[in-house]
Amino acid sequence: MSEKLIEVVENAGIVRLTISRPKALNALNSDVLAELGSVLSDLEARDDLRAVLITGAGDKSFVAGADIGEMRDKTPEEARAFARQALATFKRLETLPVPTVALVNGFCLGGGCELALACDWAVASDNAIFGQPEVLLGVIPGFGGTQRLPRRVGPAMAIDLVATGRKIDASEALRIGLVNRVMAPAELEAYTEELTKQLSGNGPEAVRGAKQAVHDGLDQDLESALSLETSLFALCFAGKEQKEGMSAFVEKRKPNF
Ligand code: HXC
Repeated sequence: MSEKLIEVVENAGIVRLTISRPKALNALNSDVLAELGSVLSDLEARDDLRAVLITGAGDKSFVAGADIGEMRDKTPEEARAFARQALATFKRLETLPVPTVALVNGFCLGGGCELALACDWAVASDNAIFGQPEVLLGVIPGFGGTQRLPRRVGPAMAIDLVATGRKIDASEALRIGLVNRVMAPAELEAYTEELTKQLSGNGPEAVRGAKQAVHDGLDQDLESALSLETSLFALCFAGKEQKEGMSAFVEKRKPNF
């Protein structure tokens, strides 16, 4: 049997996906994308899912980009199909109903940075390196970088990064809002545990609703988005979690979701 390109480990509804092509610094080829897509499609349907974490195998790289060797001889039509395959896979990740977190443990370049951008948030080890170096290869980002990067860090910084192809370290990534937190590599494990504990204590439906409100609202004008928030807020009162959460507060005990 061939080696798995995506390792899946699970603990109490928190699923950790590890992209595993360490010899190529976990570069995304069409096999990795296909396997990732298939893993994500299994996760989509699961009611017991609490969060998805995604990282890269080894201590050197998260993902060093799309596979340059595979791309080199592509025709424009083949390049379009490759980009579409990645975009569809990343969309699956982005629209999972639970929080998704990129644990960035090293090189996070090109398609790797675009993968991190498709997650709700990113946490990086202090040796992580970020960048959209596509222009150095004579192309532009094709896995969503020209669109998700400006939405995350603003258009001026996005154009700076995509036009120069310069690499930035974790502290600059933190300063511009590309990542949420930076820590020593060894602490990424402890972070995962802390996050698991935090999310397991929260109402899962409320967490899903909060994610949906933020994501769906961003694509709408403010008035429609606020109305979406009201609908999702009201919907909380139709479920058990709101009764339990508020009763627990009044009764001075911990909620049991
Ligand atoms: C294929 C890659 C790769 C990639 C690294 N490797 N990145 N293979 N695609 N993106 C392979 C190398 O060829 C090498 O294989 C092995 O991984 C180790 O890499 P080295 O270069 O020897 O390591 P190091 O000297 O430490 O340099 C690390 C690095 C460098 C700075 C990350 O590998 C690098 O610049 N990689 C390319 C980064 C990049 O340009 N990413 C954007 C890709 S374009 P061998 O067999 O020689 O040991 C992109 C476009 C997305 O993502 C949109 C497309 C539609």
